[in-house]
Amino acid sequence: MRVPFRLNRAGWPALPLPRRIALPDPRDLLSSERIAAPDAFAARSSLFVLRGTTRSTRPGRHRQGDALLARALRGSSPVVLDVGAADGSTSLDLIAALGDRFAAYYVTDRTLSLRARTDDRGRAFLYDAEDGTCVLIATPRWVVYPAAEVRAGWLRRALPWLRGGIPPFDPAYPEVSLVQPRLREVARRDARVIVRAYNVLEPWDGPAPTVVKIANLLNRAFLPDAAIRRATRNLFRALPRGGLLLVIDNRVVDGRPVEKASLLERDEGGFRHVESVNGGTEILDLALRRGG
Ligand SMILES: C[S@@+](CC[C@H](N)C(=O)[O-])C[C@H]1O[C@@H](n2cnc3c(N)ncnc32)[C@H](O)[C@@H]1O
Repeated sequence: MRVPFRLNRAGWPALPLPRRIALPDPRDLLSSERIAAPDAFAARSSLFVLRGTTRSTRPGRHRQGDALLARALRGSSPVVLDVGAADGSTSLDLIAALGDRFAAYYVTDRTLSLRARTDDRGRAFLYDAEDGTCVLIATPRWVVYPAAEVRAGWLRRALPWLRGGIPPFDPAYPEVSLVQPRLREVARRDARVIVRAYNVLEPWDGPAPTVVKIANLLNRAFLPDAAIRRATRNLFRALPRGGLLLVIDNRVVDGRPVEKASLLERDEGGFRHVESVNGGTEILDLALRRGG
């Protein structure tokens, strides 16, 4: 991140500020029931960068990959494991695309919530409970990323001063869910939809899925090849023979959004390529190496 702060759009209502410099107010997540529209929730839950990975997501970005999967399933009733689902915007889409035809749907992400401390100056400090790092500070006028790695010397000198003002992490701080309110509601009503934490670098210890979907996580821009191979090995071991793996990369090519997706089938010794759209995932070569 070149500059680890932006304007909080809520504090400058009269100015038509572009997204590059002004962000939606992250403090809205503290009373998320009030954010009814999935797009508006996704815009706020996408503001975080946790351990080098951005949480960016939005509804409607996996239409072609989901269609590949729906065709391959041909009306069967799968157990779906959705890995790195962020706030679950795209899980809601796939659940809708499957209609009622699924036996179970696991919506998973390494981080499903943060902890928040607020103060009487209207500031919110948001912490990753896994390591107690303050990942974002929202004030009425600013949004600051205190854990960002910055190159410019003057910013590097300013950050320790800024970090000095951060209250130390306390695990008793209230939890702030990063999961779409609508998805939480679906999970409350439908026992087949389960939202749970899962780190893909560890083995999956839940029921065997028949389908794994992983989108915009196995990305060479923020994971070394060894980690991508470890993740695909874990997914290979989670799936039974004949199980499906859908990998999606959303990219911008010549200024236009492109959804690159590949569907693979788990065979005895590794994954077999079934079908791709828009050239397929950029990690196809890694995923096709022997899975065991
Ligand atoms: C760019 S978002 C993609 C969200 C969604 N799949 C989509 O395509 O819109 C990547 C997500 O992966 C999650 N993540 C990062 N490392 C992970 C790991 N080791 N295991 C599981 N999830 C992880 C992040 O928390 C983040 O929500």
